[in-house]
Amino acid sequence: MRYRRSYFGRKKGRAQVCGSSQPEAKELKKLEKIFLCGDPHGEFDHILKAIDEFHPNAIIILGDLTPDRSLDEIFKDIGETKVFWIPGNHDTDSDLIYDRIWRSKFATNNLHGKVLDVCGVKVAGLGGVFRGQIWMPPASPCYSSPGVFIKKLGKATTWRGGLPRRHRSTIFSSVYDKLKECKADVLVTHEAPSIHAKGFECLDILADQLGVKYFFHAHQHESKNYGVINGFVARGIGLRGIIDLAGNVIVPAEADLRETANKFQYEKKPKVKKLPASKFRRLYKARRDRQFKGQSSWKSIDKHPGMELRGGFRQAGQDHGPREDKSSN
Ligand SMILES: [Fe+2]
Ligand SMILES: [Fe+2]
Repeated sequence: MRYRRSYFGRKKGRAQVCGSSQPEAKELKKLEKIFLCGDPHGEFDHILKAIDEFHPNAIIILGDLTPDRSLDEIFKDIGETKVFWIPGNHDTDSDLIYDRIWRSKFATNNLHGKVLDVCGVKVAGLGGVFRGQIWMPPASPCYSSPGVFIKKLGKATTWRGGLPRRHRSTIFSSVYDKLKECKADVLVTHEAPSIHAKGFECLDILADQLGVKYFFHAHQHESKNYGVINGFVARGIGLRGIIDLAGNVIVPAEADLRETANKFQYEKKPKVKKLPASKFRRLYKARRDRQFKGQSSWKSIDKHPGMELRGGFRQAGQDHGPREDKSSN
């Protein structure tokens, strides 16, 4: 794998962030040693190859890991590279997926709802997604914290004595509010900020309050460089894409075939206008009448019982004996 291209700068490996936020050479070197990985969705070979080739100080996976085996097994030979992550909505799809992540030794490197020092860079994380049952901004939260939600649910619907598994990848306003009080250099989220069509303005506010210079998101499976918005550099990391904190593309994102197929189907599908049954009957009758125009309609057959139609209709009361086969000589 030999792919490294800066999306900020013109020269290979030289990231240039616009305006005053351009990092110093030393700072830049530090940023280039931290990789951000878009939704792996069960594929980790590209991450392992990138670690093997570039030896980053740390990687941060931005949710939807859905590993097919334990993270301990996947990252057993990565040397000194540290692995950080935030959960995505699919990481709580099953008990098996949950345990492969949360029961691995990397569970403590979950950045969700906190700020951690990642090799000299303060990184804030907000994993998971907004779900209407809990909180769908800009509406007010239905349940402000996991505790309030569990109280309402009752013990019968809890999972392993706590929050239902699905909502362990749901954003609660209590977590969001607590994170807003911190300070950080970088914000990583699974959901997108408002600049994306399916993004959320409250994440712009979070980035502003944290005072971050860089904001990276995943989940939408689209590689997007938004440039500088509200004083920070924003970037969407596509499906299985990897970039470093300085903005260099390490592994280009893959096209989301499912999304492409959906789009293609939607575009190709002709719009079928259904006729109401009454109109269909009227049109069918008109066509049938046109067919027999000059000869007769079914009604006119009744009126003229002596008339014989092509194809062997006989006069009423006539013997239905074998017809002459005109093709045979
Ligand atoms: Fe997702
Ligand atoms: Fe995803």
